[in-house]
Amino acid sequence: MTTLLHIDASARTKRSLSRRLSSLFVEQWRQQHPDAEIIRRDLGLAPPPHMSEAWIAAAFTPPAERSTEMRDTLALSDTLIAEVRAADLIVLGVPMYNYGMPSALKAWVDQIARVGETFSFDLARGDFPIEPELSGKHLVVLSSRGEFGFQPGGVRAASNHLDPHIATTGQYLGVVRKDIHLVAIEYQEFGDERFARSIADAEQRVHALVRELAIGLPHSLRASPSLAAGMSSAARSR
Ligand SMILES: Cc1cc2nc3c(=O)[nH]c(=O)nc-3n(C[C@H](O)[C@H](O)[C@H](O)COP(=O)(O)O)c2cc1C
Repeated sequence: MTTLLHIDASARTKRSLSRRLSSLFVEQWRQQHPDAEIIRRDLGLAPPPHMSEAWIAAAFTPPAERSTEMRDTLALSDTLIAEVRAADLIVLGVPMYNYGMPSALKAWVDQIARVGETFSFDLARGDFPIEPELSGKHLVVLSSRGEFGFQPGGVRAASNHLDPHIATTGQYLGVVRKDIHLVAIEYQEFGDERFARSIADAEQRVHALVRELAIGLPHSLRASPSLAAGMSSAARSR
């Protein structure tokens, strides 16, 4: 059985394209894995609070020395980390806002990145003292952008502060770069045939990803022997 954490970060609801992609993914996943557990976190509708001085003080106080007030301050962070910890697969619907991530998503990352929980810090490791505590998860990033050309080599690649930021902070989620799967709708602000094609391509890619990940995740492999039997040798070695 897989556990999927479904996150949305768009402030829009019905008209949101990133929500449309993430809903499609989760719907398809549910169909193929009826026993999957789905954890829901809607950051667009309920953004976590920004960090505060009290939060930082609590997070950097050893657990045994925390006051009741400090424990209360970290309660939401504890819940959000537990959701990530439980997940095999994180599905993130995320718009590009001002060339980066929505502030609600950044606030969530700030709540998740916690010493002793999602990373350790040790100067004995020299110039790279941070090591992730979690591992082995896949992250599906389902995005939407008004403009276009944000892919590596694209005309706006240098303005893309969303995908690289997600990739770097993936270490706090237990995700390595090769296990981040990105699908993005572009051209939303142009509303032309390129936009229509981009939506169709993205939806097709979501369907394909559901199939590929069903093969690649060891838990779902056990849950779906018929899918496992049909998989290619290339997929087997992922
Ligand atoms: C506040 C805001 C900022 C945006 N900034 C950008 C941007 O920097 N680059 C871009 O290509 N599109 C930008 N857009 C367009 C959105 O990325 C696009 O509308 C996308 O579809 C939003 O995601 P959603 O449909 O899931 O809400 C912005 C939209 C909003 C509302």
